[in-house]
Amino acid sequence: MTPSSTRPLAIVTGASTGIGHELAKLCAQNGFDLVVAADEPEIRQAADTFRGLGASVDAVEADLATLEGVDRLCEATRGRPVDVLMANAGHGLGRDFLDQDFEDVRHVIDTNITGTIYLIQRAGREMRARGQGRILITGSIAGFMPGTFHAVYNGTKAFVDSFSFALRAELKDTGVTVTCLMPGATETEFFERADMMDTKVGTMKKDDPADVAKTGFDAMMRGDGDVVSGWKNKLQTAIAAVTPAGILAEQHRKMAEPGSAEKN
Ligand SMILES: NC(=O)c1ccc[n+]([C@@H]2O[C@H](COP(=O)([O-])OP(=O)(O)OC[C@H]3O[C@@H](n4cnc5c(N)ncnc54)[C@H](OP(=O)(O)O)[C@@H]3O)[C@@H](O)[C@H]2O)c1
Repeated sequence: MTPSSTRPLAIVTGASTGIGHELAKLCAQNGFDLVVAADEPEIRQAADTFRGLGASVDAVEADLATLEGVDRLCEATRGRPVDVLMANAGHGLGRDFLDQDFEDVRHVIDTNITGTIYLIQRAGREMRARGQGRILITGSIAGFMPGTFHAVYNGTKAFVDSFSFALRAELKDTGVTVTCLMPGATETEFFERADMMDTKVGTMKKDDPADVAKTGFDAMMRGDGDVVSGWKNKLQTAIAAVTPAGILAEQHRKMAEPGSAEKN
């Protein structure tokens, strides 16, 4: 990246595929330079795509479930002020909780919560000191419902959705905005990585990640508090708000139970 660049800078995590990839493309198209991160070498090919859209890009390969990984990402900005932080990296883990490997469980929590809020704290402190900045957090409508057969993941997203609103309120009048993007099921590598390709939600038709990212990007630029992408998901969250948790948990079973794909 050119240290003397006058373009604003955006950090996008989880930019190698899916929603994060589309968010990073939007940043590049809208005049931002980029520091992008993911855990696998594919992030370097993704960086070439963003360069092709006119951005100066640094790609960081780091496990953002670890504080060291997040520190390495922050160092890649080389002291350049961060105008936009898109804390998007995250992953799921399907099947029965009691049968999951606890290391895998912990990686979900450490990626979706610990690494995410550590990064937000580091970048957020600098934004508050400068009196400007925009933070977009990828939460999920999954945060509104108990995730039967995806229990830990939904719990992490309930945390993220809640955290986002609280941080936004704390940062009121500081010049720093916090926006929570809450997608519904979206066509990315998410369900394959979560071992959910034998489930109804894994195999059904899902939202386009480019549309979801655009909804989030626009909401962040407006400084909105949250945005649920798509009218069906908006309806689902409105119903979830007035439905008992036990009923929601049974509805989630139908979507995420292993083998539920065959019942389509
Ligand atoms: N797809 C959906 O239905 C859906 C719905 C609501 C919310 N979301 C949320 O949207 C966000 C993006 O997911 P997606 O659907 O776009 O899935 P995706 O295509 O699997 O993308 C996930 C991205 O996060 C990165 N990542 C995951 N764990 C990481 C770690 N420990 N360290 C560094 N990078 C990591 C992945 O990179 P590597 O491959 O290099 O690890 C990848 O770039 C997630 O927070 C997810 O929870 C997704």
